[in-house]
Amino acid sequence: MGQGSQMINRITVQTKQPYQVCIGSGLLDQLADYLPQILTGRQLMLVSDATVNHFYGDQVMRCLSHSGFRCDRFVFSAGEASKSADELFRLLNAMAEMGLDRSDAVLALGGGVTGDLAGLAAALYMRGIDYVQLPTTLLAAVDSSVGGKTAINLAAGKNLVGAFWQPKAVLCDTDTFATLPDSVWQDGLSEVIKTAFLADAQLFYRLSAKSQEQKWQEIVSRCVEIKSEIIIEDERENGRRKLLNFGHTVGHAIEVCSDYTIGHGHSVAAGMWLITKAAVQHQFCAARVLSELTDLLQSYQLQLQYPFTAAELAAAALHDKKRSGDRLTLVLPLQIGQCCLHQIPAAELEQWLQAAMTES
Ligand SMILES: NC(=O)c1ccc[n+]([C@@H]2O[C@H](COP(=O)([O-])OP(=O)(O)OC[C@H]3O[C@@H](n4cnc5c(N)ncnc54)[C@H](O)[C@@H]3O)[C@@H](O)[C@H]2O)c1
Repeated sequence: MGQGSQMINRITVQTKQPYQVCIGSGLLDQLADYLPQILTGRQLMLVSDATVNHFYGDQVMRCLSHSGFRCDRFVFSAGEASKSADELFRLLNAMAEMGLDRSDAVLALGGGVTGDLAGLAAALYMRGIDYVQLPTTLLAAVDSSVGGKTAINLAAGKNLVGAFWQPKAVLCDTDTFATLPDSVWQDGLSEVIKTAFLADAQLFYRLSAKSQEQKWQEIVSRCVEIKSEIIIEDERENGRRKLLNFGHTVGHAIEVCSDYTIGHGHSVAAGMWLITKAAVQHQFCAARVLSELTDLLQSYQLQLQYPFTAAELAAAALHDKKRSGDRLTLVLPLQIGQCCLHQIPAAELEQWLQAAMTES
């Protein structure tokens, strides 16, 4: 890579086909150096939403114009509603019209919505072509860009149509965080807290020590390391990888009940809090675990409660893909830095949530 490479953190994700996650400042300007090392084709489709395209689309196109790649761009409306079959097929048609072949690649420049949509298009087009994740939200940097889960939503629920399709690389330019609105930054903080809470007590207490300036490049890198360690043991989420869904059963339900007006990370924050309350009631962990989580979420201004009933949340959650037959796998905390998987009959979810909601 070009200049400034000493500032870039690199983590190799040891999946069947290993790939690198690079995290640091200035990476978007180094694409022309980096992409030829990992891609074989000469054509690229740059995918981003209108907001991200406004901030970074021209910068990436300019950089690629000196790289020998022929690059087109596909821009869609920002927001969760674009994780749809319509948008997916619009993208696939644009890829076909451009004449992408099996050696070519897709660049997903944006947050989790872009990564999920572009990643799924790459997984499906000609039975699978390469893609590179260029995450521009904190959430995408620490979570969605790594691990190869791609999906769109159906009316019946979130992420119901998808594929496991690992990227060729993840290049996270931390400079892009500078333009994130506060609320989108908070969505990412929620996933950072999730990762720390379920796997790294030291990181959890580091996040709690808010007085000092946080080093986000290091924090993102640690989260990626943790995710990478978990997914290499369980690439297709048959076991341990489910731990990463901590807070997500209720979180996805909150997203659905709010018609996606409440962001993914905000929903997961409330989901983590509610399921930890339930875990205390069911004696999986001490009350102190809940109070420490509550303090940390509140210190980052993450809202804990939304006006949905246990019945509404349970109904929405039971459409969720993590349900298996009439059983549901919950991720429950044991202590700060350690969670476990626990199966319950799906019909009992409402009771779990109701009890947690009525507890003061
Ligand atoms: N595949 C996975 O493993 C995985 C994991 C977690 C979440 N997700 C998915 O990720 C999505 C949420 O991701 P998200 O919060 O990144 O949402 P997002 O992609 O919608 O981005 C949030 C908003 O921020 C804007 N934005 C993005 N980067 C910006 C920047 N640098 N400057 C200014 N604005 C910017 C976008 O235009 C958008 O309006 C959900 O659909 C969720 O299901 C997927």
